[in-house]
Amino acid sequence: CGIVGYVGPNPSAKALDVVMEGLTRLEYRGYDSAGVALIGDGEVVGEKRAGKLSNLVEALNAHPLPETATAIGHTRWATHGGPTDGNAHPHRGGTDRKLALVHNGIIENFHALKKQLLAEGVEFASETDTEVVAHLVSQAFGRTGDLTQAMREVVNTLAGAFTLLAVHADQPDVVVGARRNSPLVVGLGEGENFLGSDVAAFIGYTRHALELGQDQIVTITPDSYSVINFDGTPSDGKAYEVTWDSAAAEKGGYDTFMEKEINDQPHAVADTLLGRTDERGHLVLDEMGMSEEDLRAITKIVIVACGTAAYAGMVAKYAIERWARIPVEVELAHEFRYRDPVIDEQTLVVSISQSGETMDTLMAVRHAKDLGARTISICNTHGSTIPRESDGVLYTHAGPEIAVASTKAFLAQITASYILGLYLVQVREGNEEGVAEVMSELQAIPDKIQQVLDGMDRVKEIARFMADTRAVLFLGRHVGYPVAMEGALKLKELAYIHAEGFAAGELKHGPIALIEPGQPVFIVVPSPDSEHGLHGKVVSNIQEIRARGARTLVIAEEGDEDVVPFADEVIRIPRSPALLAPLLSVVPLQVFALELSTAKGLDVDQPRNLAKSVTVE
Ligand code: G6P
Repeated sequence: CGIVGYVGPNPSAKALDVVMEGLTRLEYRGYDSAGVALIGDGEVVGEKRAGKLSNLVEALNAHPLPETATAIGHTRWATHGGPTDGNAHPHRGGTDRKLALVHNGIIENFHALKKQLLAEGVEFASETDTEVVAHLVSQAFGRTGDLTQAMREVVNTLAGAFTLLAVHADQPDVVVGARRNSPLVVGLGEGENFLGSDVAAFIGYTRHALELGQDQIVTITPDSYSVINFDGTPSDGKAYEVTWDSAAAEKGGYDTFMEKEINDQPHAVADTLLGRTDERGHLVLDEMGMSEEDLRAITKIVIVACGTAAYAGMVAKYAIERWARIPVEVELAHEFRYRDPVIDEQTLVVSISQSGETMDTLMAVRHAKDLGARTISICNTHGSTIPRESDGVLYTHAGPEIAVASTKAFLAQITASYILGLYLVQVREGNEEGVAEVMSELQAIPDKIQQVLDGMDRVKEIARFMADTRAVLFLGRHVGYPVAMEGALKLKELAYIHAEGFAAGELKHGPIALIEPGQPVFIVVPSPDSEHGLHGKVVSNIQEIRARGARTLVIAEEGDEDVVPFADEVIRIPRSPALLAPLLSVVPLQVFALELSTAKGLDVDQPRNLAKSVTVE
C-alpha cells in the first residue's frame, strides 16, 4: 500500500492537493482502492473508493471536500478484506468518528484484538485488520488526550508489520505515524511537513527527508517534528537529501521496476510468511475454504498455472510430495483444460497465478470445478477473479509486481505453496515438530536472499560481457530443474536470447549435441548434503559438458569445493535445506537476465510482445 500524510500552515489549506499528488506517485504500490481523510472544523471528513485512484478523483469532483491544512491518504493493495469501498482506507475510530487512520502491512493478532472490541460492543464497518487499530487508537486518545501517546499505547499491543498514520479532529494540526517492519519516511518542508511510504510521496515539495528506525513513532506539525521509540524514549531520526528525480523515486532509486522487485525479494518472502501461525505455532490458513476433514480426504493434488507460476508449481511438487506424501501433478493450465484429466471430488486443484486474471488458468480452474474437484488459488492479487471463483485462497504477500516478467511473485509463490504443503502435513499427520522446523528454516531464507543480492557484482559483469551471446543453456536436477527452466525463461523474456532449461540427467539423451566450444551453460548444483548422491551426479554432468568445450557457469553452495575444478565461474549461494534452495539459486539467474537485457539497451519492465496478465486464451 501507499500512504501519505501532510500538515501545512493555515490558511494555505492545500492538504488535499498534496495528498492526492502523493497518492498519484504512490499508486504503483497498490490500486485496489484509495481514500483520504481531512481535518475540517472539529471533525474528520473524507472520501474513499474501491478501484483505481481515478475513481476517488471522480468522487471528489462530484462532492468536493472543504480546504484544510491537515490530511492523510492511502492507496491500497488488499491483504485482509476484499477490495471494496467499505474496506478502503482511511478507517474511522470511535463512536464520535473523530479519528482517521491508514495502514500498510498486516496486523497478525487482529483476530484476538477484534474479539475483545466486539465484546465491548464496538461496531465494525469493515473486514479489515486496520479498523481494529483505528478503534484502539481512538479509545487510547480518550484516555490520554494526546495522539502520540495514544499511538504509543496501541502499537505496543500489536504484532506483525505495519506503518500507521493517524489524525484526530481534537488535535487538528498533528499527524502521527508509526512503523514496524514496514516503510515510512518523513519529508521536511518550510512551515509544512510530510509523511510517506517512500519519498515519491512528497518529492514534488521537498528533498529534505528523515529516515526512521524500526519501532519508532513520529509526530509532525506544520513547524516541528519529533521522534520517539515504541518504549517512549526520544530519538533523532536520520536526515538526508533526496537526489532522485520523481520517476526514480517511484522505483525506490532503482532504474527499473524489475530491479526494484528483484531487490524486494527478501521482503516478498518474509511478508508471505507473516501471520500464518497462531500463538501455539500452528499454521492457520483462514481462507482455505475447506474443512480439515475434506483436506484429509484428498488423494491427489493437481497444480495448474502458466509461465513462471508453473515453474513455481514444479518446485512445489517436490516439496509437497516429500512432506505430505500426496501425489502431485503439475500441468500447464491450457493443456489441463483441453484434455480429459482424471480428477474427482478427492482431487485438490491448486492454481498459481500472480495476477489472478490469467484466462488460461481461470479456464482450468472452472474445468476442475465442473469435474467436481476442490480448488485453491495461490494468488498475489486480492479479490481477483481466480481466487473469487476458487473454494479457497492462500494469498502471497509479495506486493504489486509491476515489471511484466515475474520475479518476486515467483519466490512468494514457492513460499506460499510450501506453507500449503506444511499445512497438509499438519492437518493429515499432525507432525507439528516437522512443520515448525521447516517454518523456521523458511524464516531464515529472507536474510539469505539478501546475501545473494549483496554478492551479485560478478554475475552482472559476466552478463555485460555476454551481451552478444546467441544461446544459453541451463541445467538442473530435482528442484534445480524448474529453476533452470525459470532462468531460461527470464533470459528469453528480458533479453530475447534463445535459452533452454534442461533436466541435467536428460542431457545425455539428446541436448548434449548442442554443446560446442564456448557454449555458455548455467548449472544449478544441489547442496552437497542432498540425498541419493544427487550432488555427485550433477558434478559429473558438469564434467561431461566441460569436456566438450562448454563454458560452465556454476551456481553452488558456499563451501562446495567439488565444483571448482570444472567451473569457469562459480556463483555462490548460502547453505540451505535442499528443498528451499530454489528461493536462493534463482536469484542470480534473474539478475543475470536483467543485466544482460540492460546491456543490450532493452526495455526490461515491458519486454516486447508480452503482457503482465494475459486475459485471452
Ligand atoms: C504472463 C506473464 C508471465 C507470467 C504468466 C502467468 O505470460 O508475462 O510473467 O508468469 O503470465 O501470470 P500469472 O499472473 O497467472 O502468474
